[in-house]
Amino acid sequence: MPETWWRSGVIYQIYPRSFQDTNGDGVGDLEGVRQRLDYLVWLGVDVLWLSPFYPSPMKDFGYDVADYGNVDPLFGGLEDFDRLLTEAHERGLRIIIDLVPNHTSDQHPWFLASRHSRSDPKRDWYLWRDPAPGGGPPNNWLSHFGGSGWTWDEATQQYYYHAFLREQPDLNWRNPQVRAAIHEIMRFWLRRGVDGFRVDVISHLIKDDLFRDNPPNPDWRGHGPDITRLTQLYSANRPELHEIIGELRRVIDAFPDRVLIGEVYLPIDQLVAYYGAQNDGLHFPFNFHLLQTPWRADALGALITRYEAALPLDAQPNWVLGNHDQRRVAGRLGEAQARIAAMLLLTLRGTPTLYYGDELGIGDIIIPEDRQRDPWGRREAAFNVSRDPARTPMQWNDTIYAGFSTHEPWLPLTADHALRNVATLRSDAHSILSLHKNLLALRRRCKALHSGDCRPLDAQEQILAYERYDDRERIFILLNLGADPTHVPLPADGRLLLSTQGDRTNDSIEGAVRLRGDEGVIITASPSS
Ligand code: GLC
Ligand code: CA
Repeated sequence: MPETWWRSGVIYQIYPRSFQDTNGDGVGDLEGVRQRLDYLVWLGVDVLWLSPFYPSPMKDFGYDVADYGNVDPLFGGLEDFDRLLTEAHERGLRIIIDLVPNHTSDQHPWFLASRHSRSDPKRDWYLWRDPAPGGGPPNNWLSHFGGSGWTWDEATQQYYYHAFLREQPDLNWRNPQVRAAIHEIMRFWLRRGVDGFRVDVISHLIKDDLFRDNPPNPDWRGHGPDITRLTQLYSANRPELHEIIGELRRVIDAFPDRVLIGEVYLPIDQLVAYYGAQNDGLHFPFNFHLLQTPWRADALGALITRYEAALPLDAQPNWVLGNHDQRRVAGRLGEAQARIAAMLLLTLRGTPTLYYGDELGIGDIIIPEDRQRDPWGRREAAFNVSRDPARTPMQWNDTIYAGFSTHEPWLPLTADHALRNVATLRSDAHSILSLHKNLLALRRRCKALHSGDCRPLDAQEQILAYERYDDRERIFILLNLGADPTHVPLPADGRLLLSTQGDRTNDSIEGAVRLRGDEGVIITASPSS
C-alpha cells in the first residue's frame, strides 16, 4: 500500500463551537481553530475534521444546515474558512469537513420551497406522504430524538419525514436533482481545497420505497430512548444506498488525493459493506466498536480479530474512541484506563480518530439543567442521553474561562479546569497530554506502527497484547486492563519505548515484562530477535 495521508495519518475531530472563541461571545469560531493550529502541530496530529460550521438555526447545533455553501456568522465567514485551510495546509495539516446530506434545516430554501405547495418543483426533494388510511402518520418510523419521525404540515395537508428533529427534514435521495445538488456542493468545497468529507448518518440516505413499518426491536426491554423500540429495517441501511455512495465516491475521485469517510453505526458484518464491492464505496466507514465493546481484554481482543478478518482486501481499518455524540472516554473508563485506551487507539492498525479534549482526559461533567443544550438530552431527559458533556469547551490554561473565551462559555468547563488544561498538562512530562504527544510522535516515527501489520500475542487474562510489525521492525503492545500487576512473557527481548505512566523509557526487557496495574507499554524488539 502506498503511504497515503489518510491511511498513515491521525484524525483529530474539532467541534468548532467548543475549541476556541476569539470574539468573546462564549462560542468557538473558525478563527479560533486557526489560532490553535500550532498546538495541533505540536500535538502531532495530521488531519482535522471540523463538525459543521454552516449557516444554521442551530436546533441540532449545526447538523441542521440552512446553506451548504457558506459559514454561519457565529463561526465567521468564508474568508475565515479559506484562511484556516491555507494556514493548515502550510503546516502540513489536512482538513476534512462534515457533509450533512441526509437532511437540511427546515429553514433551508429548498425546504421552504418544498413545503410551500404540493406543486412546487422542490416538493419531491423531501419525503412527503399522505396520512395512513385510518389517519395519523404514514408509518411507525421514529425520530432518533424521540417521538414519531413524521410531522404534519397543516398548510399542504401532508406529513414530512425527519429521522431527527422536525426542524431537520430528510431529503429524498431517490430524486436525481437532490443527488446532483449535493454533488455540486461537494465540488464547491473540493475546489476550495478541502481534503475530504465525513458524511453524517450516511446509512440513512435512502429509505424503503414502500415505506414499510419498522419491526419491533427483539432486544427491547421496555425501557430506553424511544428510537430503540424498533429495528430500523426499512428507514436505514437499504441496499440501494451503495449505488448512491458510489456516486459520491466518483465526485471525490475527480479530485486528486481526497477522502470520503462515513458515519455508520452498524455491526461489523454490515459495516464492511460500506467500503464498496470494488473499492468504490467509502474510503472507510467509521468503526465505532471500541465505544460499544465491554472494556475487557478478551472482548477487545475478539473485536480486533473479528474486525481485521471482516475487512475486504486492502481496505483501510480505522478506530474511533470518542466524538461529539458519545460519552467521553475518560468518563467511561477513568483516567488510568483512558491512558490505556489512548495507547490502544494509537497503536492499532488503521486510521485513528482522536476527539478534542480527550488528550486532556476530560471526564464526565454534570451539567445543571438550566445549562443543558442538547435537544435530544432535553427531550429524553429520563434516559441520560444528553450529548452536552461531550461538547464542553477545550481547556487551554488556568484562567477563569480556561483560555477558551473571555466570556461565560456556551457550556460549562470541567470542575478541575484549573488543572486539567493544555498549559498545565503540557509542562508535566507524565500527564495524559504528554502521553498523547509521545504516542503520536512514536506512531509517526515508527513505520511498523503507522503502516505495519498486526497480529495478536498470547497473554493472560486482563492483558491485551499484540504485535505491530513490518519487514524491519517488531513492536509489542501490552495493555493491562486490570488493576493488578503482572508479568507478561515476550516472544523476543527488547527495549521499552513508552509506558502509559510516562516513566520507564528505555528500560531493557529480557524474556518478560512486569506491568503495573493499569499500565500499558510499547516495546521494540531487539534487531537480532
Ligand atoms: C449525526 C451527528 C449528530 C447529529 C445527527 C443528525 O449522528 O453526529 O450529532 O445529531 O447526525 O444530524
Ligand atoms: Ca466566537
